[in-house]
Parts: sequence; C-alpha cells; structure tokens
Amino acid sequence: MRILSGIQPSGVLHLGNYFGMMRPALELQERGEAYLFIADYHSMTSLFDADARRKLTLDVALDFLACGLDPSRAVLFRQSDVPEHCELTWLLSTVTPMGLLERCHSYKDKVAHGIPVNHGLFAYPVLMAADILIYDSNIVPVGRDQKQHVEVTRDIAIKFNETYGQTFVLPEPQIRDDVAVVPGTDGQKMSKSYGNTIEIFGDEKAVRKKVMSIVMDSRTPQEPKPDADQNHAIRLLKLVAPAEVARETEERLRAGGFGYGDLKKTLFEHYWNHFATQRARRAELVANLDHVHSVLRQGAERARAVASAVLKRARRGCGLE
Ligand code: ADP
Ligand code: TRP
Repeated sequence: MRILSGIQPSGVLHLGNYFGMMRPALELQERGEAYLFIADYHSMTSLFDADARRKLTLDVALDFLACGLDPSRAVLFRQSDVPEHCELTWLLSTVTPMGLLERCHSYKDKVAHGIPVNHGLFAYPVLMAADILIYDSNIVPVGRDQKQHVEVTRDIAIKFNETYGQTFVLPEPQIRDDVAVVPGTDGQKMSKSYGNTIEIFGDEKAVRKKVMSIVMDSRTPQEPKPDADQNHAIRLLKLVAPAEVARETEERLRAGGFGYGDLKKTLFEHYWNHFATQRARRAELVANLDHVHSVLRQGAERARAVASAVLKRARRGCGLE
C-alpha cells in the first residue's frame, strides 16, 4: 500500500495541520510505504518571498522529523527536487476539462475573499493530481478541505486512462472524522489564512497568550453549559489531553462553576505537555541540520526513482515515446 501526502511551506505549521494531516500520515507510515513531501511548487501560488520559502521548507522538514517521521520507513522529500511532477502536470492538464477546475471550492473561496488569483492557483489541482498519480498512490491522508482535490485527481486519472489506456492507479482520500476540522482560536477552521492558529512548535509565552485569547461567550462561570461539547477549547483539549481529562473537564463545564479562564489554562498545559518530546527532538535536529539535509537528499533520490518510472509509463501511453 502506498500512502502519499504533502504540505505547503507557506506558513508555520499549526494544530490543524498536525491533527488533520501529519499525525494520520505518520500513523500510516507503519502500515505501508509513505511518501510525504514539502509542496514548495504549490507554495509559489501564494507566497512570493524566496527567503521565506527556503526557511519554511526547512521548517516543515524539521517539524515532520520532530513529530516522528522515520526516514528509514517513510520517504520525506521536497517537491521541486522531483521536477517530473511538472512534466506530468502538463500531460494531465490536456485531459482536464476547465469546468472541473472552475468548480473547485478552494479556488472559488479565494476569489470570493478578494485574494488576487493567478493561473497557478487555478491550475493547482492538476499539479496536485500529478503529485498523487506519479507515485501510484493508494491512500491520501488529508483534512476535509482537500477532499475535493483528491476527487478531481481521480476524475483526471479516469479521463487519462480512458483516453490513452490504463496508466494511473485511482487514489482514495483518507479523512479522519474525529479531526476533520480542527477549530482555530475564533472557532472557524484553524488556518494560517485566518490568523487563528496555534502553532505546533510556538514560543511558550506567545502560545499561552493565543490560548488565553480563544473566543468564548459571555456566560458567567457559575452558569451550567449544556453545550460544553461545542466549546472550541474543549474540542482542542480532546486532541491534546488524555481522554479522561478531556471528559472530566467537559463535565465540569457542563455542570457550571468552572470558568473559561481555568479551562484555557488546562488546555495550554496539556498542549504544552503533548508536544514535549517532539519539541526536544526538534531542538536536537536544529543542532544537526546536516542530517536533515541528507534525509531530504536521500528522500528525493528514492522519490525520483518511482516518479520517473511512472512518468515514462504516461509518456509512452500518450505517444510521446
Ligand atoms: P492552511 O488552511 O493553514 O493554509 P493547508 O491548506 O496548508 O492549511 O493544509 C495542510 C494540510 O493540513 C491539509 O491536509 C489540510 O487539510 C490540513 N488542515 C489544515 N487546517 C486544518 C484544520 N483546521 N483541520 C483539519 N485539517 C486541517
Ligand atoms: N494541496 C495540499 C494543501 O494545500 C497540499 C498538497 C499538494 C497535497 N499536493 C498534495 C496533499 C498531494 C496531498 C496530496 O494542503
């Protein structure tokens, strides 16, 4: 079984990225061959600062390794180290109906938010399809917002297979219901574009401040909260605290007499402890960047071997060879 997922180096990784994509992908590295990559080509659709891209790319590699990516099992690589992705994108784009891309929510949302859009952003699902298909991927662990892109990938693969004969494996998205949408500090989906994130490896003081700023309603501490399960802090606590702690805290909130300030303090403590091991591991990696660069180099070699074979198959299929 081949597992593939990618993440853009376009911001500091947050709890939505971790619980929505990284942790599920890392769990799967035990069950098959995992290909995890840093989608630097994708980041070019929205980030126009070269130094920031270089720094964020290294940060994503550090975050993955700190969070348990095992380079002897999984393949960690930088997308642009495998330029075959770009050639396959062109082959796929010629069988991609415009309407398929025009229907993509992520593109429509950007237009609706008044974000200036470029051709790369419009065509991005085709690059994503190439990322997935070029590894004969079976399973793609992602958060719910990426589900449509995996469906588009399947449609493009079917179209290519129909046009040129059986070439690509059809991938399945894997979305964990319990963490499909991790809420941010304002209760909307946690996202770097909404400025409501809690970083995985944020500075202690800064994250404490963010946690204490999680938006709550104006009910007094004494009031019972029958809707405690909907509370953003409780939903986050369920991710970072042991199950019985989260359950007990939710009960206390439901019963009344437990204030939001105490709830947020509890959340911060569990968040901080949850990532203690990873934080220590990340500090060690930062002190040994040669190792990180060497993991990326070896990952690129392994990825390229697979990608070039699949690209060759596609080139042959459509008569380029
Ligand atoms: P952002 O919304 O911050 O720009 P990305 O779109 O780069 O995040 O997402 C990278 C990965 O993390 C994707 O697989 C995405 O589905 C997942 N992800 C991001 N935010 C969340 C969230 N709040 N809840 C669940 N998964 C998320
Ligand atoms: N589009 C994804 C995101 O923004 C990142 C990504 C690029 C990806 N290529 C991929 C995810 C292939 C899974 C598979 O989050």
